[in-house]
Amino acid sequence: MCGIVGYIGHRDAWDIVIKGLKRLEYRGYDSAGIALMNGGLKIHKKAGKVSDLEAHTLHEDRSGTTGMGHTRWATHGAPSDRNSHPHRSGDGKLSIIHNGIIENYSVIKEALLAKGHVFSSDTDTEVLIHLIEDIHSDTTDLLEAVRLALNEVIGAYAIVIMSQDSPDQLIAARKGSPMVIGVGEGEYFIASDATPIVEYTKNVIYLKDSQIALVKRDELVVKTIDNIIQTPYIQELSLQLEMLEKGGFEHFMLKEIYEQPRSVRDCMRGRIYPIEGKVQLGGIKDYADKLKNVERIVVIACGTSWHAGLVGEYLIEEYARIPVEVEYASEFRYRNPIISEKDIVIAISQSGETADTMAAIELAKERGATIFGICNVVGSSIPRITDAGVYTHAGPEIGVASTKAFTAQVTVLTLMALYMAQQRGTVKQSDLVSMLTELDEIPTLIEQALKSDEKIAEIAEKFKDSSNCLFLGRGSGFPVALEGALKLKEISYIHAEGYPAAEMKHGPIALIDEDMPVVFIATKNSSYEKVISNIQEVKARKGKVIAIVTEGDKTVKEMVDYIIEIPACNEAYLPLLATIPLQLLSYHIAVLRGCNVDQPRNLAKSVTVE
Ligand code: F6R
Repeated sequence: MCGIVGYIGHRDAWDIVIKGLKRLEYRGYDSAGIALMNGGLKIHKKAGKVSDLEAHTLHEDRSGTTGMGHTRWATHGAPSDRNSHPHRSGDGKLSIIHNGIIENYSVIKEALLAKGHVFSSDTDTEVLIHLIEDIHSDTTDLLEAVRLALNEVIGAYAIVIMSQDSPDQLIAARKGSPMVIGVGEGEYFIASDATPIVEYTKNVIYLKDSQIALVKRDELVVKTIDNIIQTPYIQELSLQLEMLEKGGFEHFMLKEIYEQPRSVRDCMRGRIYPIEGKVQLGGIKDYADKLKNVERIVVIACGTSWHAGLVGEYLIEEYARIPVEVEYASEFRYRNPIISEKDIVIAISQSGETADTMAAIELAKERGATIFGICNVVGSSIPRITDAGVYTHAGPEIGVASTKAFTAQVTVLTLMALYMAQQRGTVKQSDLVSMLTELDEIPTLIEQALKSDEKIAEIAEKFKDSSNCLFLGRGSGFPVALEGALKLKEISYIHAEGYPAAEMKHGPIALIDEDMPVVFIATKNSSYEKVISNIQEVKARKGKVIAIVTEGDKTVKEMVDYIIEIPACNEAYLPLLATIPLQLLSYHIAVLRGCNVDQPRNLAKSVTVE
């Protein structure tokens, strides 16, 4: 969480930094701040959004060609002006922005307090800049002082530092938190991801863990925090600017929901060959032999990505006949999990930066497992620490609530399940041909599912004032129900629970009354009859039922209050279609309740703290 931007060059730093912070606001929006070199080190900061900072500084002198800014997701210290970044050293000459967490900050703070340092915020970040200042008083070289300070720090950081005494440089460093440096003509850009940089240059350097950079207008020096000089590798961005705009939609979330026919197609492109009945996954092809004999797969992920993992469990067990366990990364990392070199661990993460998922990967690696990654953000940290992987290619997801990333993750897991089945011979070749032919049609079926949008908006009107909602499904409809509940609660703040439909009678049924909306995944598949019984149980207690049904279904229509139709499809692909109306339902309810759907309260898109 937290987004950082830095600029040194010949343009107005303010404009570049403020625009960059708006692009990074998905990483946190508790407060924003900017430091500029403008006849001295000037800092403007404010609790609230980047637009609040802009309004607050409208009449200030915001000129200067060196600057840095921060948008915060609060960890240490409440969201307030004083806890906003940038922070200053005690003498006011140094300033820092930081994304991450300094775990041993209290020990360092105590030592600095004993030396007479006085702090003006509750943050771990301010402690770090005081530590650098303290070391700098003994060594004149600021880069060296930063390097030595980082050797004392435990935790994660992406930092940028400005110094009043060295106005023509920035110092940047990272460990555990992402950082990209854009290389221009006589100018450099620094940011948490490439989105603030792409409109100025396509040439970027992904700073590696424990690297520190001295950035001047026409010079870049990179070394490790162990003082070994490094040659940075410049690569070209494939990101397009249009991908970062709303493109006529009212919200990024809606745009991203509507992008799913394209994102699912992009995810399958070059990977499926329906006529030959073949799946090709270049990213994991070196492990084809291991997949033939592997006895167990463990999936680790958080949140929506964990739900995708549950869908993967159904698919891999059904088609590749490999036992799968799906674990919350945050729990896995603190247990003593039984993992060995025989296992394959699949880590799923949209951002590729989630701290718990990264720690779980490290643990599984220590125990010898082979790690596959399923990530969306190219060049993020997780793809760099896994043995192999498959990118989802959904494109940048800006809405904080995950939509197109989820369906892309499910698509990759579907491809993986069929790829594994192909290696192990657990699905007949003729069945692979028909399954892949049907899979190829899914983007078109998602387009059809999106056509219910207007009807869903009308249903949303009826339920916008509910305070609770249940989502029920069976089989792979269960993770879809979990995902539907998560979407609703995170963007509309309505309490929602997802349950396996049959579990309802073991407790949640007590909640059912005439005010309780219950959303059923009731499509025609192997559990259709059973789900119908569960619907009857809810209707007998006067619950209000919204059912996601297969086009043309009459039976469920007669039993429930509202139906939303999706096209018929192979049961394996149900999650890819049934999720669409649930995303739209949450979206419309949240809009009707006046919620900020793209930036729900208390959330951040990239959870880089545990
Ligand atoms: C919910 C949502 C989160 C993320 C979770 C994991 O809409 O987006 O639950 O899925 O924070 O993030 P990644 O996938 O980036 O590891």
